[in-house]
Amino acid sequence: MAATGTTASGESAFYVTTPIYYVNDAPHLGHAYTTVAGDVLTRWHRQRGEKVWYLTGTDEHGQKIMRTAEANGVSPQEWCDKLVEDAWKPLWEHLQIANDDFIRTTEPRHTDRVQEFVQDLYDKGEIYKGGYEGPYCVGCEEYKSPGDLLEGDLCPIHKRPVEWLKEENYFFRLSAYGPRLLEFYEQNPGFVQPASARNEVVQFVKQGLQDLSISRSTFDWGVPIPWDPKHVIYVWIDALLNYATAVGYGSDQAKFDATWPANVHLVGKDILRFHAIIWPAMLMANGLPLPGRVFANGWLMVGGEKMSKSNLTGISPRELTSHFGVDAYRYYFLRAIPFGQDGSFSWEDFSARYTSELANDFGNLASRVAAMIGKYFDGLLPEAKDAGPAEQAIADGLAAATAQADTMIGDNLDFAGGIGAVFDFVKQVNGYLSDQAPWKVAKDDSPEGQARLATILYTAAESLRAIAVLLHPVMPATSEKLWASLGAEPHLGALADQRIADVATWGRLPAGAQVVKGEILFPRLENA
Ligand code: MSP
Repeated sequence: MAATGTTASGESAFYVTTPIYYVNDAPHLGHAYTTVAGDVLTRWHRQRGEKVWYLTGTDEHGQKIMRTAEANGVSPQEWCDKLVEDAWKPLWEHLQIANDDFIRTTEPRHTDRVQEFVQDLYDKGEIYKGGYEGPYCVGCEEYKSPGDLLEGDLCPIHKRPVEWLKEENYFFRLSAYGPRLLEFYEQNPGFVQPASARNEVVQFVKQGLQDLSISRSTFDWGVPIPWDPKHVIYVWIDALLNYATAVGYGSDQAKFDATWPANVHLVGKDILRFHAIIWPAMLMANGLPLPGRVFANGWLMVGGEKMSKSNLTGISPRELTSHFGVDAYRYYFLRAIPFGQDGSFSWEDFSARYTSELANDFGNLASRVAAMIGKYFDGLLPEAKDAGPAEQAIADGLAAATAQADTMIGDNLDFAGGIGAVFDFVKQVNGYLSDQAPWKVAKDDSPEGQARLATILYTAAESLRAIAVLLHPVMPATSEKLWASLGAEPHLGALADQRIADVATWGRLPAGAQVVKGEILFPRLENA
């Protein structure tokens, strides 16, 4: 693995980024997918007790934004300001995204540093002036190779005609970095993930890289090239640098040292090459340490196509959250689609998982246990007096689920697997309750019968204590409700302060905790 950021005191931040999104339009399910994944990852690491830095933001320069603003009769800056404040930031708040910063590429803290970075490469002889012509897709903001086009002139991603562009530009000597990149991939096999993405990148670099045009002179919505301001810096060079400028590159060395480089850049697979080839080459050219990992998530598909604004068929994140709730939304996409693969969304599948996994398996478990503790023990968590093999099996199941979820979510970004491990444990606890049948044991009012009843309900409540912690990164509000219903806070402190390392320590929730039947965690769905 590449080096991670380290402060003078040795404490390094786990630094995670999302792509910065184009603000030509409002966010859709695909954008939210990557951002929620990053949020779950960073919350998981916070619960490991690590210092974490989670960055997201918006990409505001380039032709695509400029044309959208023109079409709407406003300046590009006005357009961006409006979209960021009215659409992007509010959605992240709504989805409970706990980002530490939000960078906009039109902010001076970014543009000034971008100029310095590019000037530095120019001074080092990494940039030269030349000419280029070729097919360009404004949707991708990228020159295409003629061989990539469909039916002669269609962008394979946007399925729209490309434009022929001919310009005198500045070029970055990307071609020189092929061998060093290949060596880097070789030495850092985990740099590009998943494996399919890594193979794509390695194959591409092996074919030989071309120098990269890094300026545009046919429009002016961008950061001017410092030594030749008739040109603006290519939007992708500008955009990639957000990861550095946002954490103090060139302005706050202490913060930069404490954060840089990113441990994980989350990207959609459409923008993999920018992050796994161009970005490390830029950093090599500048002499900065390289990121730990670039993880490419798959696409959310609609009707066999990448979900995009034009084929959304009218679904927005808020339509889903108003029906299913925010936490179920956060849960669903990560649980249903193996991270790294493409997946389709359907109301039917979402409804089915909501009902069987969230409402029945998890929600009912929580409410049944609280109700029984209320009914049989006046809401005071009883002591487990005669724990035996059945209870040991639950404690063991919890230890296994915790270890699996920690590796899968925290290390491998296998959200579906990690959440699945926690829900297998939920199922195990349900199975335990069916086997032990506390509602039957309750009828036996001998001391032995009452001791057994106490043990069963303690075991179930203690399991829920652990489940609340393990699901907190995925479903923060629901977990808080559960934490409150278990009366855990006065004894164990705030849910956010619970550590993954302690989750499987059995017996943390003490007898005497005040258990209340809180609100239903996953109410029955209204007909859509
Ligand atoms: N601005 C660039 C990124 C610059 S990063 C230095 C960009 N923006 S974007 O708004 O077009 O989309 C960026 C990301 O949104 C994708 O890489 C991906 O993470 C996410 N997604 C957009 N549509 C998606 C799907 N249909 N499915 C999954 N993720 C998708 O590219």
